[in-house]
Amino acid sequence: MAEKFRIQGGECLKGEVQIGGAKNSVLKLLAASILVKGCTKIYNVPQLTDVTIMLQVLSELGAKLEYNKEEKSVTIDSTNISSVTARYELVSKMRASFTILGALISRCKEAIVALPGGCAIGERRVDFHIKGLEALGAKIKIENGCVHAKATKLVGTDLYLDIPSVGATENLMLAAVTAQGSTRIQNAAQEPEIVDLANFLNTIGADISGAGTSEIVINGVKLENFHSAEYTTIPDRIEAGTYMAAVVATRGKAIIRNIYPAHLTFFNDKLIKMGANIKLADPTTIEVSARNRLNSINFITQPYPGFPTDLQAIAMTLLTTANGVGIITESLYENRFMQVPDLRRMGADIHQDRNHAIIKGIKNLTGATVVASDLRAGAALVIAGLMANKETIVEKLHHIDRGYEAFEEKLRSLGAKIKRFEDNNENKINMGVLNESRL
Ligand code: EPU
Repeated sequence: MAEKFRIQGGECLKGEVQIGGAKNSVLKLLAASILVKGCTKIYNVPQLTDVTIMLQVLSELGAKLEYNKEEKSVTIDSTNISSVTARYELVSKMRASFTILGALISRCKEAIVALPGGCAIGERRVDFHIKGLEALGAKIKIENGCVHAKATKLVGTDLYLDIPSVGATENLMLAAVTAQGSTRIQNAAQEPEIVDLANFLNTIGADISGAGTSEIVINGVKLENFHSAEYTTIPDRIEAGTYMAAVVATRGKAIIRNIYPAHLTFFNDKLIKMGANIKLADPTTIEVSARNRLNSINFITQPYPGFPTDLQAIAMTLLTTANGVGIITESLYENRFMQVPDLRRMGADIHQDRNHAIIKGIKNLTGATVVASDLRAGAALVIAGLMANKETIVEKLHHIDRGYEAFEEKLRSLGAKIKRFEDNNENKINMGVLNESRL
């Protein structure tokens, strides 16, 4: 039985929407919580399949978990961590669970974590994570598809990342918090999720400065320093950007609540250049609207604070009906244009050459059956469906459920005509039709 979205396009989105906690932050906060020999309570935890997988990882390590639906909080009791293994079945489903490596090395001085492998959007190597941990003193073996890391003691050092990798910065921060002496991560990732992790670690007892800049300094502390605390996850900037794009795409007008506009400066600037209006109502609320056909723009995806790769597919959807020609260069992943064939099926005029896409705006997209090939490509196709004439069916919703909490409910509250349904006939081919056609 396959779940799909049925979308009737052409509605202007209007109303209000509340943004949830950042998926790419909360997953790392959950991993970091195992540093505390006691309880940590994290608020603003979205209900997502990726979060469920991370909770499963923690539970298999021995942590006790309590989820409070009303409060949107999770309490993690990591008093007893009885296993150091994160198995392939979990890590392969969700790469972010690899962050448990740094946390386990800090807490237990040993970790056996399955290598995540590549994924649909690219090869996504973890060499910086491994080299950095080795520089901190961990002995690492790759055996049976797993990273087996052991350290009698971790010692702070200077680390330099070839690319400001988000995951490597997080894993190395997590390992360095209990290392002897100071660690400097140079060319560190500067994403708001890095700052959130550093703030969380400092709240539970770490000593980290410089997060949010390209140089992070971590003064190691003893494991005993880590203590119970409560913490609230930052809002999800990519979820916020997705709803802003959906509103603008349908020439609607909506209030977006629980957003940190400063986390989306580059994206907001591009939306304004396309013709959107963005007004700050209060520090965590904006009003977004668009009246006319959008203008085309060019952009290159870059590490924060540049244009976020996670909003590239969504912005491409906006360009499909914009006035003029837009050029996108995807600089982070080698295969992140997977939405292109499906957007073409909806009538879009897109020429792709390696990591460049040239999008010539057409008047209207037309509804079609399309497939979500990854999380953000899936969201982009949903927005395309909202823009299109007639009906669009979006398949493979499990990708979208990884990162958008109550996606269809939130869109419906803005007036979208979108419904989830179960297709029981998906795999049935009508053999009668074949016989009749006498091929
Ligand atoms: N890279 C390496 N070696 C490494 C690490 C990274 O070559 O050891 C390369 C990757 O292959 C990639 C680039 O560096 O081409 C950037 O990867 P990074 O490590 O920064 O990404 P990540 O930590 O794996 C996180 C988000 C992604 C987001 C990227 C970039 C999480 C769980 N994931 O991934 O989010 O695209 O940062 O901002 O935090 C999403 O939410 O849809 C998503 C894919």
